[in-house]
Amino acid sequence: LNAVSFQDGLSENSPIEDQIGHLSESKHNETTISITVVGASGDLARKKIFPALFALFYEDWLPEHFTVFGYARSKLTDEELRNMISGTLTCRIDKSENCGDKMEQFLQRCFYHSGQYNSEDDFAELDKKLKLKEEGRKPNRLFYLSIPPNVFVDVVRCASRHASSPTGWTRVIVEKPFGRDSDSSAELTRCLKQYLSEDQIFRIDHYLGKELVENLSVLRFSNLVFEPLWSRQYIRNVQLIFSEDFGTEGRGGYFDSYGIIRDIMQNHLLQILALFAMETPVSLDAEDIRNEKVKVLRSMRKLQLDDVVIGQYKGHTKGGKSFPGYTDDPTVPKNSLTPTFAAAALFIDNVRWDGVPFLMKAGKALHTRRAEIRVQFRHVPGNLYKRTFGTDLDKTTNELVIRVQPNEAIYLKINNKIPGLSMRLDRSNLNLLYSSRYPIEIPDAYERLLLDAIEGERRLFIRSDELDAAWAIFTPVLKELDTDKVAPELYPYGSRGPVGAHYLAAKYNVRWG
Ligand code: NDP
Ligand code: BG6
Repeated sequence: LNAVSFQDGLSENSPIEDQIGHLSESKHNETTISITVVGASGDLARKKIFPALFALFYEDWLPEHFTVFGYARSKLTDEELRNMISGTLTCRIDKSENCGDKMEQFLQRCFYHSGQYNSEDDFAELDKKLKLKEEGRKPNRLFYLSIPPNVFVDVVRCASRHASSPTGWTRVIVEKPFGRDSDSSAELTRCLKQYLSEDQIFRIDHYLGKELVENLSVLRFSNLVFEPLWSRQYIRNVQLIFSEDFGTEGRGGYFDSYGIIRDIMQNHLLQILALFAMETPVSLDAEDIRNEKVKVLRSMRKLQLDDVVIGQYKGHTKGGKSFPGYTDDPTVPKNSLTPTFAAAALFIDNVRWDGVPFLMKAGKALHTRRAEIRVQFRHVPGNLYKRTFGTDLDKTTNELVIRVQPNEAIYLKINNKIPGLSMRLDRSNLNLLYSSRYPIEIPDAYERLLLDAIEGERRLFIRSDELDAAWAIFTPVLKELDTDKVAPELYPYGSRGPVGAHYLAAKYNVRWG
């Protein structure tokens, strides 16, 4: 079998109007879409995928004719699937009037098929059920692989042979992790491409679907004031910060074979970095944007062991409440050296960014939950107000903060005169707080990405050469950490993380924001 066994979706691309407006009725009268969530009994499906599909349905973004199938090994009836997901669905806008009706309508379009992930017969049975629902319409089929990576290829093999669309497009959304280093990632890509063409593979990084990450390009390329400053000439350092105030809770088994560098840095933070640092793309077309991302990733230096600090959280008691350490999780080996925290200094060796440290910090079980991009600008040359500020000039430099979550915001720290007769200066913020400016609930990242996959929009999905370039940056250091059995610095649950992260930043004259 080869890539032709799945229909190529390219010719089905929606026009741009469809991407920004609701789908027109007439267009979908003859077509239907079947969305199969593989791994429907799992955590991600329940927490994110079904709720996102419902939100799209609730706001009329889904085509008129669609069916959702859950597929997993667990033996469930359609009704049991509906019961399982009904508790997780919410209506974003008017929670009152038609919410219950809409939920019921959505649930009636959800079905379940129990099967093994490596059984061609089971997928052939699924195909029969899909055909019954498709009722003679031209079917397009979307598979969402919400399963552990060891069964990705089995599913793709069976689905491509027995459940691909006979006449419409077939696309497959693949969840992370895409391998654990360059070799395993290349092998996964090779195996998937035995059955799918690159255009059919939608590698998801849900951070790309977050509102403020999507907005990065708008901020840079549609405002005159930012882009001219976006280079080594004016920017001292860039910080990409991810922090969670809870541990691996329930996902320790998965996490222990990956660790925080693979779980967050190599994908979520690096994707943000690529969008932040890329050159202006020729257009907003997916390929033009992805070409620029690949270029910047390929200009990056391989991460050095000296430029990495790792940590692991330990148990901690606070206010009479005790919080477990990482190795207290029964699914984690007691002697695990897996990092739950890492800080790293990365460099882009190109004309724009030569010498500018891009510092990443990612950790679980820290004191706060936040994801931010912080851009620290250089000192004002010959600053007339130097004396007014005192000696610590670093505290006077401008800083642009893009807060991805929570409380989405973009703010610029500036120096300002405190009103009055004396000349006293103050640090103040020009602040765009999303909740004040846009009093609407921001869609979940999975909604944006599912809709894009349905529309055939690939801009926010990872192309295989991007993935190769991303792994090339991290693979050598990941190997060294494993072979040298580097012990992580322990930090208490709920703290600010290991002090080593501050030394790393200080090495590059940086203070974490
Ligand atoms: P789960 O561990 O909940 O697995 C999903 C389903 O896969 C399970 O319900 C189970 O269904 C089946 N399954 C579990 N273990 C195995 C196994 N060893 N072999 C075969 N089938 C198995 O995963 P999640 O829902 O948490 O995640 C799904 C995918 O999404 C993973 O690739 C994960 O890395 C990724 N992901 C998850 C996130 C999350 O927040 N949960 C966030 C980002 C990515 P059954 O037994 O019924 O077949
Ligand atoms: C996932 C990681 O990709 O992202 C998890 O595997 C992490 O470890 C999650 O908790 C964070 O996503 P969000 O959207 O909650 O910030």
